[in-house]
Amino acid sequence: MRTDDIRSLFLRFFSQRGHTVCPSDSLVPANDPSLLFTGAGMNQFKPYFLGQRRLNFRRATSSQKCLRTGDLDLVGRTASHHTFFEMLGNFSFGDYFKREVIEWAWEFFTKELNLPSARLGVSVFETDDEAYDIWRKNIGLTPDRIVRLGEASNYWPANAPSQGPDGPCGPCSEIFYDMGKEHGCGQPDCTFGCSCNRFVEVWNLVFMQYERKSDGTLEPLPQKNIDTGMGLERLAAVMQGVSTNFHIDTFSSIIAAITDCGGPPYAEHSESGARMRRIADHVRAAAFLLADGVKP
Ligand code: SER
Repeated sequence: MRTDDIRSLFLRFFSQRGHTVCPSDSLVPANDPSLLFTGAGMNQFKPYFLGQRRLNFRRATSSQKCLRTGDLDLVGRTASHHTFFEMLGNFSFGDYFKREVIEWAWEFFTKELNLPSARLGVSVFETDDEAYDIWRKNIGLTPDRIVRLGEASNYWPANAPSQGPDGPCGPCSEIFYDMGKEHGCGQPDCTFGCSCNRFVEVWNLVFMQYERKSDGTLEPLPQKNIDTGMGLERLAAVMQGVSTNFHIDTFSSIIAAITDCGGPPYAEHSESGARMRRIADHVRAAAFLLADGVKP
């Protein structure tokens, strides 16, 4: 399935479930001086999560252009990190909460995309029994496919309770796709949530229910929200059965153009291959930044 078709399918799935399809915001957030670049689909909706402003709808979906510099050193070395990427998301502003978002995520993967459920597993925040029970009882996942992790992995933003930043936050549940044993690190405790190339985190479901204050307290928001984010390129790699995001349809012509500039042919498992992947990532990021008015 082409990347463009996956994006359309996602937006249509949530539009059919009462979500308003919203355009991507610019990579340079218009109304958020705390951010240099847009790094998540939820950024443009922050005031609505906080209940500071209201829209005339309470469900939204988007495919957001994102730029993250935090993973810069991983780009090209791992199968699935980028600076620029697209994030598919569905959002609830005080409307539906955990049960609906988990059930829809599962339906999208297993019915809409026909992904084999045996390849899917999830993580939940260590004390989030409610999310655990929904995965266990409503969806029917067996305990070996649900892992409980701490705030570094299963809070958004990561480590928000102990380290901040201030603002809307909440525990999250991540959905992983098992790329197969041959991609694993081989460690005995390698399972869903392991950071090796075997279990790719595809979708993050955030149960955004607190505002972190500067004194470190987590104040319940006036409403419970949902913020999800799924890496379009990661999902495309899964759907196209390729071993890295850089081998999906939208990247292959960029890699081909790089090899046309001279140098060795592209080889996945080589230093030059990793360099070409980095160049492909950075060229794409630079192009989208220029298009949004950022000048070098
Ligand atoms: N905000 C969450 C993330 O960026 C989910 O969209 O992962």
